[in-house]
Amino acid sequence: MGGKKILVTGGSRGIGRATVLALAHSGAHVAFTYSSNETAAAEVLSVAAKAPGRVIAVRASVEDYDRTKKVLADVQAEIGDLDGLVLNAGITRDGMLAMMSEENWDDVIATNLKGMFNYVRAAIYGMIRQRAGRVVCVSSVSGGRIGVVGQTSYGATKAAQIGFVKSLSKEVAPYGITVNAVAPGFIETDIWQSIPESKRAGILKSIPQGRLGQPEEVAAAIRFLLSEDASYITGSVLTIDGGLSS
Ligand SMILES: NC(=O)c1ccc[n+]([C@@H]2O[C@H](COP(=O)([O-])OP(=O)(O)OC[C@H]3O[C@@H](n4cnc5c(N)ncnc54)[C@H](OP(=O)(O)O)[C@@H]3O)[C@@H](O)[C@H]2O)c1
Repeated sequence: MGGKKILVTGGSRGIGRATVLALAHSGAHVAFTYSSNETAAAEVLSVAAKAPGRVIAVRASVEDYDRTKKVLADVQAEIGDLDGLVLNAGITRDGMLAMMSEENWDDVIATNLKGMFNYVRAAIYGMIRQRAGRVVCVSSVSGGRIGVVGQTSYGATKAAQIGFVKSLSKEVAPYGITVNAVAPGFIETDIWQSIPESKRAGILKSIPQGRLGQPEEVAAAIRFLLSEDASYITGSVLTIDGGLSS
C-alpha cells in the first residue's frame, strides 16, 4: 500500500480505527473522518504517528453532502488524489419495529446509506478520471446475510449497501475501479457494547468459532480489497464472521 492515498469514513474507533492503522503501517497515506469523539480521533493520530504513512483526521458527519464535497477537496489538497475509499461510518439504533421511532429510522438511513452515497458521489469522478480506484464498503452479515431481531433499520441499510456495491461495480468496472463490500459478523467494538448484556451469551453461542471477531481481522480484509492483490475482485462481498452465517 506504499504511497497510496486512502480515505476512511468513521476512522476514530472500532473497525475504522483498525483499518486506518493497518493502512498507515503498510505505508499508505490515510485521511479519516469522525463525527464527534475528539479524544478518540486524537488517540488514533497519536498511535499512527510512528507509522510510515501519513494520517490526518477530519471532523465531519457523513450525512451532509455539501460538507462531504468540502472534506474531499480538503483531503485531496492535503494528501493528493484518492486511490481508495473505505465507507465504514455506521450506527445502530436497535429496537423492535413495532416500537421504533421515525427519528431512529431516519438517523440510521442517513448515516449508513445517505453517508455512503455522499462519499462515493463526491469521490467517484476523480477515480474515473484517474482510470483507477478502489471502493470498499463495510456492510454486515446483519441484513447482508441474515436477519437479526431488533435490526430492521440497520439490516435494511446493510442489505442496501450490498445492492449499491453490486450496481456501482458494474458502472465503473470499465474505468479500472473495483467496488466491494465486507460483511463482518459480531466484532468487538463499541457497537458490541451497545448490545444488552442479557443477549450476549446467546450471540456468542451462535458463532461457530465461539468468539467475537477483532477489528484488526476486518481491517486485514479491507486492506486486501484495497490492494493490487485484489485487482480482479469486484462486486463481491467478503464475509468475516467466524462461521456465523454459513
Ligand atoms: N461492530 C460490529 O459488530 C460490526 C459488525 C458488522 C458491521 N459493522 C459495521 O462496521 C462499521 C464500523 O462499526 P464499528 O463497530 O467499528 O463502530 P464504532 O466502534 O461505533 O465506530 C463508529 C465510527 O464511525 C464514526 N461515525 C459514526 N457516525 C458518524 C457520522 N454520522 N459521520 C461520520 N462518522 C461517524 C464514529 O465517529 P465518533 O468516534 O466521532 O463517534 C466512529 O469513528 C459500521 O458501518 C458497522 O455497521 C460493525
